[in-house]
Amino acid sequence: MKKKVAIIISGGGSNMVSLVKAMQADADFPAEPVLVLSNKPEAGGLAKAEALGVKTVVVDHRPFGKDREAFEAEMNKELEAAGADIICLAGFMRITTPSFPEKWDGRMLNIHPSLLPKFKGLHPQQQALDAGEAESGCSVHVVTPELDAGPVVGQAVVPILEGDTVDELSARIMAKEHQLYPAVLRRFAAGDTSRIEM
Ligand code: GAR
Repeated sequence: MKKKVAIIISGGGSNMVSLVKAMQADADFPAEPVLVLSNKPEAGGLAKAEALGVKTVVVDHRPFGKDREAFEAEMNKELEAAGADIICLAGFMRITTPSFPEKWDGRMLNIHPSLLPKFKGLHPQQQALDAGEAESGCSVHVVTPELDAGPVVGQAVVPILEGDTVDELSARIMAKEHQLYPAVLRRFAAGDTSRIEM
C-alpha cells in the first residue's frame, strides 16, 4: 500500500512540484500525493498542483488571527479528511504550536535551505554568506516542536563561490532541494529513516 502524502506550501511550490512529479513518474514509488494545502490563497503553487491533477485546499491563517490552535485544527481536519499518512512541509512559512508536529509525530518532514543545525529560521542563505562559510546546502528533517531542530534525514551540500549573491546561492541550493526531497521521501515512505548525503 502506498503512503498518502499531503504537502503544505505557502508560496511558489517548486519543491511540491518536484515531490509530486517524482511520485507520479514511478509506479513503484512507495507514496502518492493526495493533497496540497496552502495557508495563502495567492500561493503560486496551488495552480501548479491543480495542473498536476492533485487536489488542493486553502486554509487561510489570517481569519484565525492569533489563534494558532484553531488554524492548525482546521489544517488537521483537511489533512485527516485526505487520509494523509505523511505530511511534507515545502516552503510552509508559519510557526506552529508544539501540538501540530506532536500530532504528526514521526510523520512530518520539512526542507530547509541550510546545512542544519547551522542557520535555522529566516534567511538561512544570507546567514551562511554573512558567516563566511565555504559551503552550504539543504536539509530534510523530521519536524519536532523546536524550530528546524528535528532529526536530519537528508542533506545535500553546495559550494559557496567567491562573490556569490544571495540569489545565486539560493538558486544553487534550490536545484539540490529538488533532488534531495524526493529522494528522502522515497526512502522515508518505505520506512527507511537513515540519513541520505548528496
Ligand atoms: C525553499 O527554499 C525551502 O527550502 C524554503 O522555502 C523555499 C520554498 O520554495 N523553506 C524554508 O525556508 C522553511 N524554513 P518553494 O515554494 O519553491 O518550494
